[in-house]
Amino acid sequence: MSDIKRIGVLTGGGDCPGLNAVIRAVTKSAIVDYGLEVIGINDGFLGLVEDRTQPLTDADVSGILTRGGTILGSNNKCNPKKFADVKPDGSFEIIDVTDRCMNNIKKHGIDALVVIGGDGTMACAKTFVDLGVNCIGVPKTIDNDLVGTDVTFGFATAVATATEAIDRIHDTAASHHRAMVVEVMGRNAGWIALHAGLASGSDIILLPEMPFELDKVCQVVEHRRDTGKGFSIICVSEGAMPKGGAQVVREVDPTSPDPIRLGGIGRLITEQIEAKTGVETRNTVLGYIQRGGTPVPEDRVLATQFGHHAIHTLLSGQPNRLIVMHGRAVTHAPLEAAAGKQRTVPLDHPLLATALAVGTSFGV
Ligand code: F6P
Repeated sequence: MSDIKRIGVLTGGGDCPGLNAVIRAVTKSAIVDYGLEVIGINDGFLGLVEDRTQPLTDADVSGILTRGGTILGSNNKCNPKKFADVKPDGSFEIIDVTDRCMNNIKKHGIDALVVIGGDGTMACAKTFVDLGVNCIGVPKTIDNDLVGTDVTFGFATAVATATEAIDRIHDTAASHHRAMVVEVMGRNAGWIALHAGLASGSDIILLPEMPFELDKVCQVVEHRRDTGKGFSIICVSEGAMPKGGAQVVREVDPTSPDPIRLGGIGRLITEQIEAKTGVETRNTVLGYIQRGGTPVPEDRVLATQFGHHAIHTLLSGQPNRLIVMHGRAVTHAPLEAAAGKQRTVPLDHPLLATALAVGTSFGV
């Protein structure tokens, strides 16, 4: 028999499709399979700092499988160990508020935490593991950049959204004989760009892992114009950069543990491609539409498997694990494997060779 009677569950970091599906699976498995009580913690670790929680019953999670977002709310700025205490005048001080969180964990009688998040959320969870709190991680992010798992939930939906958008852009690109640049998210990892670029038949895919040469990009656009295909589609990851250059930073938020927000490379290369080739070029930034919407079936299934396995792993006496997908099997790895690290596209990834084989350019 396990000593675990009551669990806390939180969603941290940037949201993604499938969070509600995990909350539902965690809550239902905990209640139905093991007779546990479930406490939802609002807005990620911030809710633990500020003591904002809500009980979760079977009824509370009914009907949320298909809903985007998270019924618990999320936050990607709160690391309790390095908490930005913002003063009324806008200045802030970085302080350690882990003791507040520990008091709230005790106050609510929480025996274990299910932490649904990416690398930053897992790094926060590690702090509590070190203080003796049993934490089970569930890997989420549209970026698919978590170390230790082949895939995160949310990624498949983001790729589907980006692909559908590029398909639409394809139509208008062909009508107007334009070059169309589409900037997708992904931080320092090119997974969304690679998959959506391949799925949409983009002519050029620009990844953070492969710094590009603008001349090479322009050569493809000119070649297509000169050989009868009057339009070109360029799928660019927000983290892509020119050879010898730097990533384009949209915003720096010093109160966030992950202060850099990328974005703007699409606009930059749009101007450069048009100036160099004379081909009319337009830019579209897909932005946050990649984070919202109902999860595709693949993400619903994955999120439900992850949520169920989180509870099963916890109750079978295996503490501090990260639920992961290896091949087609859901299993688990040490939680710290994912804490604060990013999984980028390896340069020998088979999809790169596939893309090259069908004539896609990486601008290198
Ligand atoms: O990690 C998910 C993600 O959407 C990234 O792709 C993007 O760079 C970042 O979050 C944006 O963060 P924010 O929500 O803070 O603007």
